[in-house]
Order: sequence, then structure tokens, then C-alpha cells
Amino acid sequence: QLKAVIFDLDGVITDTAEYHFIAWKQLAEELGITFDRAFNEQLKGVSRMESLERILALGSQADRYTMAEKEALAHKKNEHYKQLIARMTPDDLLPGILDLLRELKRQNIKIGLASASKNAFTVIERLQIGAYFDTIVDAAKVKNSKPHPEIFLTAAEQLGVHPSTCIGVEDAQAGVAAIKAANMFAIGVGDKEALKEADYIVETTADLTYDAIVRAFYRE
Ligand code: G6P
Ligand code: MG
Repeated sequence: QLKAVIFDLDGVITDTAEYHFIAWKQLAEELGITFDRAFNEQLKGVSRMESLERILALGSQADRYTMAEKEALAHKKNEHYKQLIARMTPDDLLPGILDLLRELKRQNIKIGLASASKNAFTVIERLQIGAYFDTIVDAAKVKNSKPHPEIFLTAAEQLGVHPSTCIGVEDAQAGVAAIKAANMFAIGVGDKEALKEADYIVETTADLTYDAIVRAFYRE
């Protein structure tokens, strides 16, 4: 029986995945590294430092910087990212998300957030949706990053529900892998090929209706 839905934040609730992409792309270009959207799929759901490491590796620059320099580069990206999210408003919720949150509440299904972002609380605040969440698990509360299941398992534990009664919603390969490793039903939002490990895939959040996700969950 469905007890809870645990959402990723960036790229699922709002389009901050695009802001992360813009901010990383700018930093990469300053370093003389070019990367495209296909490569960016590998950065989704991945922590700030790990993302930087992957970008440096792409440009064969992994050994060029000291730890302190890497921290400074990550900081620079984050300053740019913070500028981009500072102007967000509730209008930046992706299509269908508010209706889904409302309907889940109405049906007494618990709602959790599992985000690897240290900016998660700021984004939730800007969107003014904090009241919908029964628990918020962010990067500060877990040791292992996605694809490790820890963040989704921690959310389920805090909600007091068994993982098998949860749906996890993700736009990232690493995120879908984390949901599956947590033994939850995985819904992918986005590219069919990139998210093929998911149990159910929708192209956009507009297709993420309460009826559709419940039907998908019980079909399994
Ligand atoms: C999410 C995003 C990633 C981002 C990570 C860390 O998982 O999908 O793109 O790198 O959070 O975000 P932060 O805001 O802490 O840099
Ligand atoms: Mg995401």
C-alpha cells in the first residue's frame, strides 16, 4: 500500500537542474573545458565536489588543482548558482507539482524531500512549499551521496514508513539508482534512455498526476 512519496528537488519540483547546468557550464568554460547536456546527465543528483571532480576529469585537469583551489572553484560555481535562485518565486514550480502535493496531502499520503543540495532549504523557501513536506533530508543529514540509497532510506525512516510503500521521484540517473537500491518504486522525470532503470517514466512533470502515479505503483 502506498504510504509516501519522496521527491528529489532539482529538476523535479523546480527547474534548478537548468541553473546548476548554467553555473557549471560557465565555470567549465573559464577553465577551458567544454561540456554538453549529455555529459550534464551524469552530474544530476551528484554532490557539488563530485560534480567538480567529474568536470575536471572530463578536461583531463583532475591533478592540476590543490584541494584548496578546488574548494574555491566549487565556491565560485555556488555563488553563481545562488544568484540564479535568488530571483525564484512560487511561479517557478514545475507544471503539475503543486496540484500533486495538494492531492497527496488530501489523500493522507506522506510527503518527503530527498535532495543532495546544500541549497535545498533556500529553494523550498523561495517556492513557499515547505508546509507540504513531512520531512526534508538534505546533504547535511547524510554521509553517502546518490546513487547510495541512504538519503531515500533516511526519508522513509523519518516518515515512519517501510521503503516498499514509497514512491521516489527523480530526474537523475544517480537518483533513480538510489531509489531502486532503497527498494522503492522509482518514477523518472525526463529522458527515457537516461532514466531507463526507473519503474515508470514521464516526459515532464505535467504527466505526474496523482492518478497516474497511483496507477503505476499498483500495476507493479
Ligand atoms: C542536486 C543537483 C546537483 C547538485 C547537488 C548539490 O543533487 O541535482 O546538480 O550538484 O544537488 O547541490 P549544491 O546546491 O549543494 O551545490
Ligand atoms: Mg534532480
